[in-house]
Amino acid sequence: MNLELTITPIEDIKADVEIIIVIDNDLNHRFVKDKKLLKKAGFGGEQDETCLLVGVDRLYVGSSSLAGTPIRTAAAKAIKALKGTSYKNIKVATYLVGQKCTNSLRTMVEGFILGGYSFDNYKSKKSKKEIKEIIISLDEYSQRVVDIQKVSSLIEKAQILADATNFTRDIVNTTPADCYPKVMADIAEALAEENGMECNILKPKELKKQNMNTLLAVARASVHTPRVIHLTYKPQNPKFVITLVGKGLTYDSGGLSLKPADYMVTMKSDKSGGCAVLGIMKAVSEMNLEVEVHGFVGAVENMIGGDAYKPDDVLVAKNGKTIEIRNTDAEGRLVLADTLCYAQQEVKADYIFDFATLTGASVVGVGHYTSSVMGQSEKTKSFVVDMAKRSGELATALDFNPYLKKTIKSEIADMSNISNTRYGGAITAGQFLSEFIDKDHIENWAHIDIAGPAFVEHEWGENPHGASGAGVRMMVKLIENLASGLH
Ligand code: BES
Ligand code: ZN
Ligand code: ZN
Repeated sequence: MNLELTITPIEDIKADVEIIIVIDNDLNHRFVKDKKLLKKAGFGGEQDETCLLVGVDRLYVGSSSLAGTPIRTAAAKAIKALKGTSYKNIKVATYLVGQKCTNSLRTMVEGFILGGYSFDNYKSKKSKKEIKEIIISLDEYSQRVVDIQKVSSLIEKAQILADATNFTRDIVNTTPADCYPKVMADIAEALAEENGMECNILKPKELKKQNMNTLLAVARASVHTPRVIHLTYKPQNPKFVITLVGKGLTYDSGGLSLKPADYMVTMKSDKSGGCAVLGIMKAVSEMNLEVEVHGFVGAVENMIGGDAYKPDDVLVAKNGKTIEIRNTDAEGRLVLADTLCYAQQEVKADYIFDFATLTGASVVGVGHYTSSVMGQSEKTKSFVVDMAKRSGELATALDFNPYLKKTIKSEIADMSNISNTRYGGAITAGQFLSEFIDKDHIENWAHIDIAGPAFVEHEWGENPHGASGAGVRMMVKLIENLASGLH
């Protein structure tokens, strides 16, 4: 999708169709040219309500206000409403909020690109990529004079971010037959090459040398050998060093503690944390942010077989801690344990964040649309939750407590890989991970369980059926915030 910015008044731009955002049900605004027709069609301008007037080639969409989030979903709904039409290019005016804040322009562009996403790689009949161009006029809703340079850099940022989110969505949506650990590593290498990053891939031999035995145990029964990916983005004068770690289970069958049939479907999405890390690396390197960012992905497939790891095994993690295996479906924390240890050995970071579709309990607790954020530090948790909300993602903090910590004790090893209680599973998984975070990093670590929003089997807001790219927007916002020196 090509975006063009122009000072030409909206009336004078030639395009197939115009999108008009109706703010706060205000059908008397000068932008609304078809009040009578809209009334006839029963359009009231409610949030996300659309009305396509083919006779005049105008699409109206409602937004409750000029704020960022409503504009984002309105723009996404507008693009979705145009799918299947023969319109190839669109014109739209500029919508700004507040005195200096241009946030709503950025979210409008995000909404167009995120809402325009579709995944049809496995359809024999491809849907034509209908909308080719969006022309944005500097003609402004509140008749403000707009700084063209500022606006065009905002549009570019929005485009980078939304494209990176769609990049993550594409990888997550790819089937386990086409996307296994080696393919994840190939994608990382290609990205590094394209965006001038360093990329180091650890194969089984190196993983053994690094004592990453819990990761190797999970991987053992798969025909696809594991990889650990380390991508590095190094700007000239970094203000901070950030480490990101992603769970990259290219398939989670549950292992010998096999998942029931209904629960196994969609488990290609268990690589979403790793794919989010790749998307974040893509965005920060394209935005040239002044923060050094390291992205680690533990890419593994959890399968069954004669040499599968078993309940009753005791594994030794990279940091020497021993783990009693009581359920092979709690594999993500094992892969992350070793990957977190490796990441901390390689890089001393100011912040370390991990992303994982770690527990069904997170989905039970907070629902499909929200990520849960955990860690030892209130400040770090709030930082992530705050940035997530500002980026258009939903996130909420879950608190650790010493009583739940006791439930992962083991009689025969340092800890068990599952809790002895049915409840609080997202938190006990987070507390398990905390055992693999060094003292130096613990205050500046957050674990983000994206099991809810990473893959949802229906459309929601600006997100499509399937992969949403959860984690990308929240973390890019956080890194942008660090780069700007605001934190
Ligand atoms: N990948 C799953 C978690 C998951 C569930 C992600 C649903 C997305 C949607 C994870 O590896 C898993 O199976 N966790 C178990 C842990 C249990 C055995 C303690 C779970 O949540 O049931
Ligand atoms: Zn599992
Ligand atoms: Zn899993």
